[in-house]
Amino acid sequence: MSLKQLDLYCTSKLEELKEKGALKGSEKVIAKITAPNWVKRGKLPDTAEDKIFGPRHFLEGDENAYLLMNSNSYLGLSLHPMVIDAEEQGVQDYGTGPGAVRFISGTYKPHVELEKRLAAFHKRESAMIFSAAYATVMGVLPTLIDEHTLVISDQLNHNSIINAIRSSHPAKKEIYQHLDMKVLERILGTYANAANTQSGPKIERVLVVTDGIFSMRGDHAPLDEIVGICHKYERNFAEGIITIADDSHGVGAFGKTGRGTEEYTQCKVDILIATLGKALGVNGGYVAASAPVIEYLRETSPFYIYSNPITPSEARAAIGSIDILESDEGLERLEKLRSLTVRFENGLTELGFETIPGEHPVTPLLVRDTKKTAQLIQYLLKNGILATGLSYPVVPKGDEEIRFQINANQTIRDIDFILEVLKNFLVRPHS
Ligand SMILES: Cc1ncc(COP(=O)(O)O)c(C=O)c1O
Repeated sequence: MSLKQLDLYCTSKLEELKEKGALKGSEKVIAKITAPNWVKRGKLPDTAEDKIFGPRHFLEGDENAYLLMNSNSYLGLSLHPMVIDAEEQGVQDYGTGPGAVRFISGTYKPHVELEKRLAAFHKRESAMIFSAAYATVMGVLPTLIDEHTLVISDQLNHNSIINAIRSSHPAKKEIYQHLDMKVLERILGTYANAANTQSGPKIERVLVVTDGIFSMRGDHAPLDEIVGICHKYERNFAEGIITIADDSHGVGAFGKTGRGTEEYTQCKVDILIATLGKALGVNGGYVAASAPVIEYLRETSPFYIYSNPITPSEARAAIGSIDILESDEGLERLEKLRSLTVRFENGLTELGFETIPGEHPVTPLLVRDTKKTAQLIQYLLKNGILATGLSYPVVPKGDEEIRFQINANQTIRDIDFILEVLKNFLVRPHS
């Protein structure tokens, strides 16, 4: 009955977002993908094929072909025939959807097999899957946070972590400046002192939560340092300090064998969260930890208990992706990803652009100006390249950037093509 009033409210809020420059606007709809034969065969391009273009994407209502530089499917597995076959076979065997939540009748053999594979892949006692990594974070953090918990979080943590902390009721929340280990240590030291002198709120458990890879910048949390600092102070709290990393962008894209930031920093956190929907090319999220923690989460986490899991066929597809990742081909794909990333980063630097160097395929081009970022994004689009422009208020003023994401299905020619376009932009930005 009052929908008209709600319509007015929503319209004025949308107007406010537009004025702030925060409106995302219409979505680009991918209508078709063309992939060269080597992609269809599940191979990487040979030397000759590396001289031609990789897959191209077509948008609805637009005949131009685009090079997709803003996909998280880093290893190119969403187009891999083995993954596609695994998913198709899953549909044949179990149908298209789970039909119920896990504890009713929604647990299928592929779900259980996938959980075992994920636990083994990350060398943990146990793992459980959720419908998405967002749902995993929302399902894990509030379940482990109570009125005696202190939560400490990196300033640039993903929105799912921010929201999960907001929707829980800790004794205290603290945020440290991005990657600033001195501040993390200072916070822990302050609370440890307070615990000794019985002043301040009674903190029994501390959760230190971080992204593994930070998706806007492609930089990573120094898990080894974080865990080292936490060890130093854990005896000051009755239930110790628990380290949690969401490595959704790291798993499958970072570290020699794709085990993410833990592998890169040679250090394991207590609880690892990641997605099946980025480098693994499928969909869904998961948490890997000790058997009692997973058992407890299964029994208590509302996002697990009251929401359908991924489809059995998606679970089959994810197992297919892990099979590839653990094979020689997985190592080759990771190596290809690294070499294309290095080529692109070096090319950017040679052209005089600012970037944040690193092995992760997220490569930011720091523009540091909102207007120029929009101009460059338009230029890239006009030249057949889809990338993501990040401007204020998504990133702080002065940190405006264009985020490029390299993909193992791309070729050397693709990377050189982007660099050519960027070079032309420097000469003739308005053409
Ligand atoms: C750190 C982090 N966590 C969670 C997510 C959400 O992943 P999903 O699409 O599986 O919910 C993302 C996606 O951008 C992410 O970067």
